[in-house]
Amino acid sequence: MDRIMTNRLDRGFYQYQEEFEAAALRVLRSGWYILGKELEAFEAAFAEYTGARYAVGVGNGLDALALACRAVGIGPGDEVIVQGNTFIASVMGITIAGGTPVFVEPDAYFQIDTERIEQAITPKTKAVMVVHLYGQAARMEEVRAICDRHGLKLIEDCAQSHGSHRRGKMTGTFGDIGCFSFYPSKNLGAFGDGGAVVTDSEVYRDRIRQLRNYGSSVRYYNKEVGVNSRLDEMQAALLSVRLSHMEELTRERKYLAEVYDAQITNPLIMKPAVREGSEHVYHQYVIRCDSRDALITYLKEKGIDTIIHYPVPPHLSEAYAYLGVKEGSLPLTEEYAKTVLSIPIYNGMTKEEQARVIDALNAYRA
Ligand SMILES: Cc1ncc(COP(=O)(O)O)c(C=O)c1O
Repeated sequence: MDRIMTNRLDRGFYQYQEEFEAAALRVLRSGWYILGKELEAFEAAFAEYTGARYAVGVGNGLDALALACRAVGIGPGDEVIVQGNTFIASVMGITIAGGTPVFVEPDAYFQIDTERIEQAITPKTKAVMVVHLYGQAARMEEVRAICDRHGLKLIEDCAQSHGSHRRGKMTGTFGDIGCFSFYPSKNLGAFGDGGAVVTDSEVYRDRIRQLRNYGSSVRYYNKEVGVNSRLDEMQAALLSVRLSHMEELTRERKYLAEVYDAQITNPLIMKPAVREGSEHVYHQYVIRCDSRDALITYLKEKGIDTIIHYPVPPHLSEAYAYLGVKEGSLPLTEEYAKTVLSIPIYNGMTKEEQARVIDALNAYRA
């Protein structure tokens, strides 16, 4: 029997093969590969999709975060509040800009615990970064109110939440800047690296356009030290194809999650909860299990791959040892790192594959 992998990117390609191939050929034959019509078209379509006024394509999600932090003015001495259980790139976005992350514990939905944000605010706090982790929209009306009350900037990391809404408004449009990754495995995935920011602010839009292109808006006239981080024409054209199918792609993921919700019945496995008023687009379907590591081995023996998002929380990674945030200081974050497990979910997953995962999970005994 074939292994069931955590993701099958080939399936995502074959779903719209002809359209992807036509778009790729169009770009190859165009003779124009960076900063052209394909990017402009994708930026316009992506802005419209999110409901933001502007979108600016960049090289990847990490750059989107780092440039967004720079654009809102984060630099040395500034603190940015972020949840402890995020992917480390969220934190790197802050520190690459020169800022200092201040970690807050997550809630029962894996999102930033909005009740704990205000306790983390100090005179140095400049911004809050919210990560809609695994695809579930966080409680943005509360975060927005806190930011407004304290004069803080709000950045959203939407790398996992394309198309996910909170009370009818799309993630990425609550804050000053919303940051997206189009890494191939994302819900809106490219065929290489890619990213974008969305914003309603012309000032932020122009600053990020400048920063992504060596700090230059007029060729060879450089206003500041920027980076080279542009979403190329090939990725933009391919992303435009996938974006045009986002509704059905999101529906498919939500359907797979519904089947898991209904059919995983093993009491040893805790299924993900969804908060009232929040949409979950299931970038990952994340279960919890006290005997997680034994479950991984058991599933592997049955030919089923799983993945941990994430085994080492950023504050305990070697990269951030210098922050001095000790083990034990974020108990819930650390507990999640020991118990969470992402099971296979991807566009193009077959009924048979999903049934095998469900049967195996239900037959598991600690
Ligand atoms: C929450 C989160 N933030 C940021 C990133 C970084 O995106 P990229 O891989 O495109 O740099 C990712 C994905 O990799 C992510 O999952």
